[in-house]
Amino acid sequence: MKQIVAAVFLILVIISLIVVAFTIRQVDVEQKSLKIDLQYRTTLLAETLKESIEPNFLSKTGTSLQKIVDKFENKERFAGLAIYNNKGNIIAVSSSLPKDVSKTQTIAAHAMDEDKANGDFVKYQDKRMYLFAVPLRDKESVLGALMLVQNADYIDDKLIEIWRNNLVRLFVQALLLSIATLIIMRWIIFQPIVNIVDSIKMTRTGRIDDTPKRFPKYLFFQPLVNEVAKINRSLLEARLVASEEARLRLEKTDSPWTAERLKEYIKEILKGRSIYVISNREPYIHTKDGNKVKYFVPASGMVTAIEPIMEACGGMWIAHGSGDADKLVVDTNDRIQVPPDEPKYTLRRVWITPEEEKGYYYGFSNEGLWPLCHIAHTRPVFRKEDWYEYEKVNGKFAKTVLGEIKNVHRPLIFIQDYHFALLPRMIKASRPDADIGIFWHIPWPNPEAFSICPWRKEILDGILGSDLIGFHTQYHCNNFMDTVGKELESLISWEQFAITKGGHVSYVKPFPISIAFSNGSMYKVDEKTRKHEETVIRKKHDIKTKYIGLGVDRLDYTKGILERFKAVEMFLETYPFYKNQFTFVQIAAPSRSDIIRYQEFAKEVEEEVERINDKFKIKDWKPIILLKRHHSHEEIYSYYRLANVCLVTSLHDGMNLVAKEFVSARDDGKGVLIVSQFAGVSRELRDAIIVNPYNAEQVAEAIKKSLEMPQSEQKRQMKKMDQTIKSYNIYRWSAEILKTMVSFV
Ligand code: G6P
Repeated sequence: MKQIVAAVFLILVIISLIVVAFTIRQVDVEQKSLKIDLQYRTTLLAETLKESIEPNFLSKTGTSLQKIVDKFENKERFAGLAIYNNKGNIIAVSSSLPKDVSKTQTIAAHAMDEDKANGDFVKYQDKRMYLFAVPLRDKESVLGALMLVQNADYIDDKLIEIWRNNLVRLFVQALLLSIATLIIMRWIIFQPIVNIVDSIKMTRTGRIDDTPKRFPKYLFFQPLVNEVAKINRSLLEARLVASEEARLRLEKTDSPWTAERLKEYIKEILKGRSIYVISNREPYIHTKDGNKVKYFVPASGMVTAIEPIMEACGGMWIAHGSGDADKLVVDTNDRIQVPPDEPKYTLRRVWITPEEEKGYYYGFSNEGLWPLCHIAHTRPVFRKEDWYEYEKVNGKFAKTVLGEIKNVHRPLIFIQDYHFALLPRMIKASRPDADIGIFWHIPWPNPEAFSICPWRKEILDGILGSDLIGFHTQYHCNNFMDTVGKELESLISWEQFAITKGGHVSYVKPFPISIAFSNGSMYKVDEKTRKHEETVIRKKHDIKTKYIGLGVDRLDYTKGILERFKAVEMFLETYPFYKNQFTFVQIAAPSRSDIIRYQEFAKEVEEEVERINDKFKIKDWKPIILLKRHHSHEEIYSYYRLANVCLVTSLHDGMNLVAKEFVSARDDGKGVLIVSQFAGVSRELRDAIIVNPYNAEQVAEAIKKSLEMPQSEQKRQMKKMDQTIKSYNIYRWSAEILKTMVSFV
C-alpha cells in the first residue's frame, strides 16, 4: 500500500508542476493581450477627445474645458481625465479622478516635452491604472496636454480568475486521477501480482494451489500468467518426482535423511494422524519495536532441533507465548501460522500469568529441576509455592492440549523437556488413546542426586504417563531406570528398557538429538561472501590476530564459560608466543536473567573477561571478546566459518548442538572442535578433541594442539564428524522417535 501511495503522490506532483507551468504561460499571454486592448482603446479615445479640445484651445475658458471633461465622467473602466497647460498646471480635471493621479504631471510633461503620446501602467493606492497623455497643440507649438486615466484593475482580476479556475480544475483532476490510479494499481496491478507471487510461493512450499482462480484475467498479464503457470506445473512435477524418490528410498537405510524423506516417512507411518508438539519455549517470539512488531528465534537447542521437523511435517506446536507482542499477532484461537515468512505449521500460544511464570518457569523448572539434573555445583532450590505453580501450569497446558485434540482420533503428542514432567500423566488420564512421547533434553542424574527433590515421586509418575521416554544417551536412560527403581513401585525390564506401572508400559530409549544437516553445509555461502564476512567481523571487533577461538552459549553456569576463560588464560601463560596471535570470541546470549544466580553468573563472566584482558592486553590487542547479546543463526554461522577452533566445554550437557552446528558450517574442512567429556555430544563426535572442562591445563593444551594441527588432520576429523552428523541428523532422529512411538501400540 505504501508503494501505491508513493506512486499516486509522484503522479500528483508531476501533474501539479505541469498545470502550474501551463497556467503561468496562459496568464502571461492573457495579460499581454488585455494590456494591448486597453492601450488601443485609450489611444482611440484620446484621439477623439483631442479633436474636440484642440481647436481654439487657447481661447477656451477653464469652464468650457471643464464641461468637456465632465461629459466623460462615469464611463465604464474610465477613471477620468485631466487637461494641462504647457506650464504643467491642471486647467480642467474629472472630479472622479483621485487627487494623487491628477497631480502626477510626469506623464503629461513627458508627452509635452517629446511632443508625442506617452502612456504607462502605474499603481495608486493598490489600484492598477493606465495613464495616457497626448500633447495638445496648434500649428506651431505644444499648448498643453490631455491625460486619460483608465482603471486597469480588471486585468489583475481576470488573471486571478484564471489561476483560481486552473487550480480548482487541478484539484478535481488530481482527485479523480488519484482514485483512478489507486484503483488501477491496487486492483488491476498490485493485487494480481500479489496473487501470482502467492501462487508461486504456495507451489514452492508444496501446498495445493487453485491457480487458475487466483490468476488475473486481464489480457496484458497473459504472457506472465502463462509463464508462471508453466513454472508452477514444473515445480509440482519436480516435487512429485522428489517425493516418489524419497518414498522409494525410505527403506534404504544408507540414503541420507532429508526433510522430504521425513515427510514421506511420516505419511507412511502415521497414516494421517496429527502431531502435537508441546514445549515451554516457543519457536518464534514476537516483540514490540516502536510501532512495529518483529520476531526472533530464541537461543534454545530444543528449538533448533524441533523446528525443522515441524517445518517438514506440519502439525501444531503448543508453547508459552512469552513475547510482549505475541498476543497482537495470534487469531481468536491464539494461533498463528509459522514460520512467519513462509508458514508451514501452526503455533498455538498458551498464556501464563507473571506469577505462574515466576513459580513454574523461573522457580521450579530453572532453579529446581535444571540444577538438579545438571551436575554443575549450583544447588537446586525447591519451594512449595513454585511446585504449586508448576503443577498449575502443567494443568493449564494439559487443558489446552485436550481442547485441541478433542475431536482428533489417536493423536500423537510429543512433549519437550523438564518443564512438563507432569503433563504426560495428565493427558493420558483423559485420553488413553493418545500416543505420548516425552523427550528430556537435559541430563538425567543418578538416583542419589535426584533423591533430594521433595516431589521426585510425583515427577517420575508424571513422566511415566508417556508411552516413550527419550534421552540423548544410554547413560541418562540407565540413570532414569535406576531412579524409578529406587523411588517407585514398578516393574522394570532391563531387556526391553521398559517400565510398567499401574498396567501402563513406558519405554525408555536413547535418541541423540541433532541438527537439520543433510547435504552441503548449513547456511552455505560462497568464498567471496565468506571473505567479506571475515573482513566485516574482524573490522567490527578490531581483531587483527592470526588465530580465532570461539565459544557460543547461553549465559548459563552449566556451559563452563568461566572454566573456558581460565583455560585461555593458562594457554597464554604457558605459550606466550600466542599473545597478540590469538583472540577468543565468546558469544553469550542473555538467558533467564530474572534468576539471581544467572545475574551473578553474568557479572562473574564480565569480571573474568576484564581481569584476563587487563592481565594480557598489549596495545590494541586483548585476548577475549565477549559479545553479550542474542545472535541469529545466520550471524552465528558467520563466526563458525571464521574460527580456527570452537570450544564446547559444558560442565554438564544433555547433548549440545553448538558442536554439531560448528561442524555443519565447515564445508572447507578446516577448524578444530574441542568438546567436554560431560556433554552428550562427546559420545557421538569422537573425532573432536575431548577434554575435562575443569582441567584448565588440559584444555589449554587442546587449544594449542588445535592451532598447530596440520590441515590434513583437521580435514580428516571434520569429514568424519560431518558424516556422523549427516547420517544421524534431526530428520532421522524424529523418524526414529515417531516410529518407536507408534510401533509400541
Ligand atoms: C535448554 C533446554 C530448552 C530450553 C533452552 C533455552 O536447551 O533444554 O528446553 O529452551 O535451554 O532455555 P530457555 O529457558 O531460554 O528456554
